[in-house]
Amino acid sequence: MNATTDLWNVHPRHRWLHGERPSQPVEFDDETGMWHIYGYPEAVSVLGDPATYSSDVARRFVPGADQWDFDGNLTQLDPPEHKKLRTLVSRAFTPKMVADLESSIAKVTNGLIDELDTDEFDLVDAIAYPLPMIVIADLLGTPREDRDLIKQWADDSLAERGQIKTKDEDGEQARSIASQRDDQRKMDDYLLEHVTDRRKNPKEDLLTSLIQAEVDGDRLTDNQVVNFASLLFFAGHITTTMLLGNTLLCLDAYPDQMARVREDRALVPLAIEESLRYLSPLASAYRATNVDVELGGTRIPKDQMLEVWLAAANRDPRQFTDPDTFDISRTPNPHLGFSHGIHFCLGGPLARLEGRVALNILLERFAELRVDHDRAPEFLTSPDFTGVWTLPLRTRR
Ligand code: HEM
Repeated sequence: MNATTDLWNVHPRHRWLHGERPSQPVEFDDETGMWHIYGYPEAVSVLGDPATYSSDVARRFVPGADQWDFDGNLTQLDPPEHKKLRTLVSRAFTPKMVADLESSIAKVTNGLIDELDTDEFDLVDAIAYPLPMIVIADLLGTPREDRDLIKQWADDSLAERGQIKTKDEDGEQARSIASQRDDQRKMDDYLLEHVTDRRKNPKEDLLTSLIQAEVDGDRLTDNQVVNFASLLFFAGHITTTMLLGNTLLCLDAYPDQMARVREDRALVPLAIEESLRYLSPLASAYRATNVDVELGGTRIPKDQMLEVWLAAANRDPRQFTDPDTFDISRTPNPHLGFSHGIHFCLGGPLARLEGRVALNILLERFAELRVDHDRAPEFLTSPDFTGVWTLPLRTRR
């Protein structure tokens, strides 16, 4: 697959997808002012030690990021605030709530396939994008019909997203963040209207549960509910879209494994896990050193920003045999696609469920699913994501 990735707009920073292995597990990059962490054991050390490696990075190290409102955003918090907020939102976003979505995920997937009037279609447009978007809208209790509106805000914001740097001499990064913030505000205003409504008219939905969730007498403010709901929309749809698209892309590149999964559906969850390892949708996570550290034989001073490349760690030969081969029989598969430690993806069970249900239905409803190699897939160009943004398919029912 490495040869073809050159054709697909795969980001040049994702060297491991261009047939290159990073020469060192830890490397300083003068251009971004950041330490890149590529190795698996090094990534696990960083992600598993929040006292040494803080998640409060944006405000401290990213020029322009002070324009964001991080109140209620779990990803930027350290203990003990992180635990408090995560416990609160977990009271609302429960495993049962997720498990109960299985039949509605199946219904939405089947409905999207029913709407297709051709055997040649773009998987992302037709299914992989709308499915997670509808699922999150249903979960939060916002109207499905608004999804084009949300897609527009999300697409505009994504288009502005570039490589994060710790220096911004020309003010370019601050301008780009200001523009992303404008798109975000539209989303925040939209969500605030719904939150205000739920305070008066509680419903059976996640927004209402978030408003009502309580730990030790503390509740979320409107602003925190809005910011958390917004995080769910952004964190939950782009990545899950990619998970579905990437899995199909991988199975197409390895037809023997496609045949095995078709024959034995018990392999579907393993294919999803291997896809998360092989093409990790969220390619990197950010941390900062609270003290001087020694990592992978390199000394990193206090107050430095790190980009932990989950996608590269997932290809580390010290952890995974033959890491550049997509192999659904890897068990266990301790990939870092959902991170590791206290920030482990809160939506992981939902993403896995959507992936499993959708892939099963696609295999059931199409006797043949092939990537249309006359119209090459395109990857999202943003450096911290790995995944298809278009995936033209040729199918047979
Ligand atoms: C955190 C990946 C789907 C909600 C994370 C992190 C990763 C990740 C790597 C941790 C980043 C860090 O360590 O700093 C993914 C991938 C997904 C996915 C690959 C799909 C394939 C979802 C979904 C939701 C969601 C569906 C919810 C609807 C969150 C939240 C956090 C998070 C709230 C913050 C957790 C915390 O900081 O404690 N995700 N995610 N994600 N994800 Fe996901």
